[in-house]
Amino acid sequence: MAKVFQVTDLHLRAALPGHNGHVHRLSRHLPKLLEALSARIAAEAPDFLAVTGDLLDVPHALLDRDKAHDLRALVQGAIADYRLVRRWLEGLGLPWMVLPGNHDHAAAFDVVFGNAPRHLRIGTLEAHAFHDWEQEGNQALRLGESRQRFEALTAAATPATEELHLQHFVVHPEVDYNYPLLYGDAGDIAARAASAPGRRLLLSGHWHGGTPMVPLGQALIGACPAFCEPPHPYRVFEMTPGQPITWREERLGLSFPSDRPLLLVDRPGLLTSSSSEAPLAPRADIADILQGLAAQGHVAIASPWQAPESAEASWRGLQYLHDAFFQALDPAITQGDALCLYLPASGGGGRRLPAEQITTEANLIPRMAELFGVAPAWVVFLTLDPQRRAIAARAGARCPELQGPAPEAAAILAAALT
Ligand SMILES: [Fe+2]
Repeated sequence: MAKVFQVTDLHLRAALPGHNGHVHRLSRHLPKLLEALSARIAAEAPDFLAVTGDLLDVPHALLDRDKAHDLRALVQGAIADYRLVRRWLEGLGLPWMVLPGNHDHAAAFDVVFGNAPRHLRIGTLEAHAFHDWEQEGNQALRLGESRQRFEALTAAATPATEELHLQHFVVHPEVDYNYPLLYGDAGDIAARAASAPGRRLLLSGHWHGGTPMVPLGQALIGACPAFCEPPHPYRVFEMTPGQPITWREERLGLSFPSDRPLLLVDRPGLLTSSSSEAPLAPRADIADILQGLAAQGHVAIASPWQAPESAEASWRGLQYLHDAFFQALDPAITQGDALCLYLPASGGGGRRLPAEQITTEANLIPRMAELFGVAPAWVVFLTLDPQRRAIAARAGARCPELQGPAPEAAAILAAALT
C-alpha cells in the first residue's frame, strides 16, 4: 500500500515582494500555512508528498524579463523562496517530489531543485514527475525529456505496473475556462495513460478550482484545487495493488485568526504619493504606517484600478506597478496580509479583464470580510474617497473620516483605532 499526500499551487512569496494580483491567492501567508500543513501531514503519516507546481508566485515582471524592474533582486528572491520550500519539505521527514508550474521561474527552480528526483519508488508504486512548460498561447505541451520518458514508461508497462504520474497542467477531465488549462496534447497523454497495461494515478494542479478524480481506462486522473486559496485544500490517496484507488479531499480551514480586526487601507494618498514620473511611489513614512497598522490588526491593502496613476494599465501592467511598489519597500517592514485590486462599482468599463472575478467597489467589504473570516463590522476601511467610504459604510464596515490629500501617519493610525 502507498499513501500519497498531494498539495498544489502554493504561489508563495516571502523574500519575493508583493502579492498575487488575485486577492484570494494568499501568497504572503504561505509560510504560515505550510507550517500548519506540517501537522496535518504528520497526522496522515503518508508514504510520500507531491507538490504539483506553482510553488512560488514569481512576479510577472521577472517571467516577462521586464527591464524596468530589478530582475537580479527578483531572481535572488525566488531562489530564497525555493530554499524556504525545500527546507519545509526536508523538515517533513518523508520522501517528496516537486515540479515547476507556469508561475515558477525555471532557472531559480533548478538552482534549488535541479538535483531533486524525478523518479522514486514508494513501496509498490513508481512515482514520476514530469516537468512541462507553457508554449504558444499559454498552452502547455509534453515535449523533450518529459515526453520521451512518458512514452517509454507507457510502452514498457506490464499488468503489474502501478504508477503515479505528477504534472502541473490538466490532463483530464475537460475544464471549460477562458485560459488554456489542459495540455495541448492532453488527449494523447490521457489515451496512453488509460490504455497502457497496469494502472496509474495522474495528479495535476494548475486549475485552482480543481476537478474530481475521474477514471479513464486503466487510469484515475484529476487536478487538486489550489492550496493558496481558502479553505486551503489538499488530497490524500491510497493505492493498494488489487484494490480500487481511494482518495479524499481535506481542507486546512480559515487562513487568519478572527480575533483581530481587518484594517483595509485604500492605497491612494494613504500609502502612495504618486506622480506621473513615479506612479505608486511609497510615501516616505510608509514603514510607520504599515508597521503601526500591523500592530493593531490584520492589514490588507486595497488598490483601485481606476486611480489616475493606474487607470490606463492592462491587468498585467497593474501587477507590474504593484510589484514595483512592494519591491521599493524596505524588506524589513510588513507588506500586509493581502492585496485587493478592485474596479469601480460599474465594473470593467471596456478593460480586458482576467478570467477570475475581480473585486469591485461594491463588493470590496463583503469579499474582504469573507476572505479574513470576520463580520463586516470587524473591518475598518481607511480611505480618502468619500464615495467609497459611503459604499463601505453601507456594507457594514467601520469607516473613520480621514482628510486628504495625505494625512499624517499618526492620524491614519489613530483613525484605525476608532
Ligand atoms: Fe497556480
